[in-house]
Amino acid sequence: MARDYVWIEGVPFPTTTSRDLRSLRDEFVARDEDVIVVSYPKSGTNWILEIVHLIHTRGDPSWVQSVVSWKRSPWIESPAGLELIRKQKDPRVYTSHLPIQLFPKSLFTSKAKCVYIMRNPRDIVVSGYHFWKAIKVTKNPDSLEEYFEWFLQGNVPFGSWFDHVGGWLQLRGKENFLLISYEELHQDLRASVEKVSQFLGTELSPGELDSVLKNVTFQAMKDNKMSNFSLVPDTIMDHSKAHFMRKGIVGDWKNQLTVAQTEAFDKVYREKMAGHPPGLFPWE
Ligand code: A3P
Repeated sequence: MARDYVWIEGVPFPTTTSRDLRSLRDEFVARDEDVIVVSYPKSGTNWILEIVHLIHTRGDPSWVQSVVSWKRSPWIESPAGLELIRKQKDPRVYTSHLPIQLFPKSLFTSKAKCVYIMRNPRDIVVSGYHFWKAIKVTKNPDSLEEYFEWFLQGNVPFGSWFDHVGGWLQLRGKENFLLISYEELHQDLRASVEKVSQFLGTELSPGELDSVLKNVTFQAMKDNKMSNFSLVPDTIMDHSKAHFMRKGIVGDWKNQLTVAQTEAFDKVYREKMAGHPPGLFPWE
């Protein structure tokens, strides 16, 4: 049965999130060798993770084909994920949807590498609706209209998209912070993978790069049960209601949001994003 959120410092979370985020923030020690992928949900997190994992193995797909994605890069905000991170050997790779104000503070004084992926929030609304309606450990929307309203209010898992992006973008310009977008991956996957591998300090041979590219296409990930979320337990996800690898396209919002919704969205977007420099977001 659908549950309500867990609220921590005014941010709503699914019930699988640790209630102890404040101690995590103070006590978790990020190491200089760590690689951390951060995003607002539905931004293409698992796509960039797959890329990072395949760069890590220099294009060898055996790891991504034999270990589920959430064990390759555990979620720091979940107690089970944190347990796995504590057992990882260096260099550790882990993931988070936490807003910056709740993330472990040690990151900001370490040399850990942080990759932040962002996506057009209009596509995130649509993707989010189709995903969260099937997730049993949080409140479920009855319709896209309802979810759309919740999203604009920030009353969705991990809170306001505007706050999330605005918070993490404060790290822009730091040498251990890489900002990348879902749209960029779509536009030029090869160049994007090269950018990520350069950031991670891994020089790939042309053959290794080709193998990464081959294994991170929408179809390859959809066919890989270790990456397509089909192994998420039924207690967490109702697989009859959604497929994680849904459409994987840019601009699906144009097919799903009404003109009135688009106008309402644009109004809020303009107000909330006014302080950001022009040209920063590929969807603008
Ligand atoms: P859609 O619901 O629009 O299809 P996250 O990993 O942050 O939860 O993001 C999930 C979104 O990324 C989904 O979007 C999913 O289809 C898309 N995605 C995942 N892997 C992808 C890939 N290899 N190519 C394109 N889109 C991908």
